[in-house]
Amino acid sequence: MKVVVVNGQNHKGSTWHAGHMLAQKLTSDEDITEFFLPRDFSDFCCGCVKCFTESEERCPHYEKLHPITEAVDAADVIILTSPVYVYHCTGSMKAWLDHYGWRWLVHRPEEKMFSKQAVVVSTAAGAGMKSANKDMKDSLSFWGVPRIYTLGTAVMEVSWDGVKDSIKEKLDRRTAKLAKKIISSGIKKRASFKSRILFFAMSKIHAGSENGADGSYWREKGWTSGKRPWKQEK
Ligand SMILES: Cc1cc2nc3c(=O)[nH]c(=O)nc-3n(C[C@H](O)[C@H](O)[C@H](O)COP(=O)(O)O)c2cc1C
Repeated sequence: MKVVVVNGQNHKGSTWHAGHMLAQKLTSDEDITEFFLPRDFSDFCCGCVKCFTESEERCPHYEKLHPITEAVDAADVIILTSPVYVYHCTGSMKAWLDHYGWRWLVHRPEEKMFSKQAVVVSTAAGAGMKSANKDMKDSLSFWGVPRIYTLGTAVMEVSWDGVKDSIKEKLDRRTAKLAKKIISSGIKKRASFKSRILFFAMSKIHAGSENGADGSYWREKGWTSGKRPWKQEK
């Protein structure tokens, strides 16, 4: 099982440990690919909208983004981690996610997403895991990932070294339970109810659209004439 971990922070604190504990229970070290933000990607979307209107390759940050995109596409499980910063994910994580607007279901979703599972991981000193995890989950869900788990932990500390053993042990148990669930669920093509509804609506819209990047993509995939990325080819 291939796992990609994209950390919304550069350091190996509580959040990294939570994500790493889970990744290690899912697969062997050589099958884990890891990125740190902003170290591995630090650009902000400049709003040129070329990714939407022309091609993702026209993004001024394409060369730097592409290796991360490739690793995400190759993974069976995507883990996104972020410490809670003022009740949300970090700016680095948000800046990276902004670069994938073109991949949302309404634009040009990647077919591979429909057979992946994902986990959003956050830690906070006290509160804000729900909203930080939602920041990351929203993107994964609109990319088409059918199964997304959340792992939020209030570590009651600002550094991993100071986190109580009881909290670390609880995290160990929770990651073990989650890893078991992910492994047993396996890799199958599927789509959430929300994706199916959105896909149906967009297939009608793109069928009638002119030759924009999105319309051409949908027509080439056959999605405007009934094909679906989560269905096996007959
Ligand atoms: C800029 C900043 C904002 C933070 N905002 C919150 C917050 O809104 N709620 C909270 O409980 N903790 C907040 N914290 C604390 C961290 O979320 C918490 O210590 C987290 O476990 C740190 O994870 P790390 O060790 O991976 O960096 C904040 C920390 C920083 C540096």
